[in-house]
This record gives sequence, structure tokens and C-alpha cells, in this order.
Amino acid sequence: MIDIHNHMLPAVDDGANSPEVSLAMLQEAVRQGVEHLVMTPHLYESDIIISTDDWTKRIAEGSRILDSLISEHKLPIKISIAAEVHFQDLLSVILEEMDVLIGGKYLLLEFSFVYVPDNIEKIIFELTSKGVLPLIAHPERIKPWQRDPQRLEELINLGCPLQVDIGSFLGTLGAAAEKLSHLLFERYAVHVVGSDSHNMGSRALYTKPGYDWITERYGDEQANLLLNINPARILAGENVVVYPVDLKPIHFSLKEKILNIIKI
Ligand SMILES: [Fe+2]
Repeated sequence: MIDIHNHMLPAVDDGANSPEVSLAMLQEAVRQGVEHLVMTPHLYESDIIISTDDWTKRIAEGSRILDSLISEHKLPIKISIAAEVHFQDLLSVILEEMDVLIGGKYLLLEFSFVYVPDNIEKIIFELTSKGVLPLIAHPERIKPWQRDPQRLEELINLGCPLQVDIGSFLGTLGAAAEKLSHLLFERYAVHVVGSDSHNMGSRALYTKPGYDWITERYGDEQANLLLNINPARILAGENVVVYPVDLKPIHFSLKEKILNIIKI
């Protein structure tokens, strides 16, 4: 399996806080059958407001430590380095000066949990015209989309794949995230899933349980698509198939509810 979203680089963000924790996370990923990890440290405006140099140096140092841990412990796992980029005014600077894309094309783009800009269509258009396609990080955890899932249709119709966190559909990231992730699965609006693991405790890696959860409900083909085929396409800079979807929640009238009960 390929994990497209995690925070295992040591001491660069709120993820692994030491090389020892990184090692434990890498070993756990191997134990669960992950063969390739994409490191996606958070990148906020505050990290680069003066200069991009400091962040770039920290990532290079974290990457060096990870490489030496992998070779020292002979771990059968590949590593790629990208970033989880918070939506910000400095997006154009990031794309010009920094190496944050996955597969040279996909930008793992994270929005605020409480606010999504109204002009999102224009933002996506500007990115795609530069050859950059946003991969939307855990949309099921963003409150405005939890309140109104249909706002996500616009992003999907613009061709942006959605990356859902495994913890959301397993129920470890709150009821609202669980509910929206289940709706996205039911409507086939999940294009890739990721561990988004930060540590060995509250935000541990649950890739194998995630694979099993998808297999039980939607079959092995779907689990393979979301944890192998689509992540591999993203890593290769190839297109992921993103079909238009209807995310209107289903509300039954009293009459329909009664008819449904009678049918049972
Ligand atoms: Fe993340």
C-alpha cells in the first residue's frame, strides 16, 4: 500500500517529535504492509513569511535523518517528500520557490477547519492553469463542508481529487467527520485515502484497518483503488479519474419513512 499523507518527518511540524518516534512510525507502517510513504509536513504561511530557506533546510535535515533510519534498520519502505500546504496568500511563492508537489503535479491542499473561501473556483482555475492540480486534504473534517456537503461538488467537477483521512471513516476524528466521510464513500466521491498519522498515540497509523474497512463495505477492488492504484497514479503525475457526483443528503418525508418501514 501507499500512504500519501503523513507527518513522520522528525521535528518539523506537529507530527513525529523525535527520530525515535519517526522510527516507531516507520516500523508500524512496514508492519501494516505500507511500501511507500509520502511525507507531507504542514506548510503554513508563518513558516515562510520571511524566507523559504529555513523550512527547506528543516525538511532536508528531517529527510536525511529518515533515510539513515531506513538504511540502518533495513526497512523495506520507500519515501517521497512533499508537503501539506495550508491555503494562503503565498501559494504562488511556494510554487515558484519550493518543491512541494507530489508527482510534479499534485498539491496536497489543506483548508482551514472553519473557513473556506468563496472564490474557490477562481483559485483552482489559477492553479490548474499553472499545471498544478489540488488534491484536497481531508475535506470531511472541514466544518463548512460538513454543514453543506454539496459545496464539494464544485471542486470535484473541477477535477480535484479528494483525499479522506482513514481516522475519519474509522470514527477516531469525531462524529461529523465520520458522517461526511461515509457520505463521500456512498457516493463514490473518495479518490484516495491517507493515514494523516502524526504519532504513535492519538493520531497513529491505521492503514491496514482502513484497507479492511473499505474491503468489507465496498470490496477489495475499491480498497485497492484508494490505497494502491490512485496513490501510484498521483505519485507518477498521472490523472486520477474524478467523476461528477451528487452530494445532496437524502431527506425522507414522513410518508416515505413509513413506506420504507412497511417495505422492511
Ligand atoms: Fe495532515
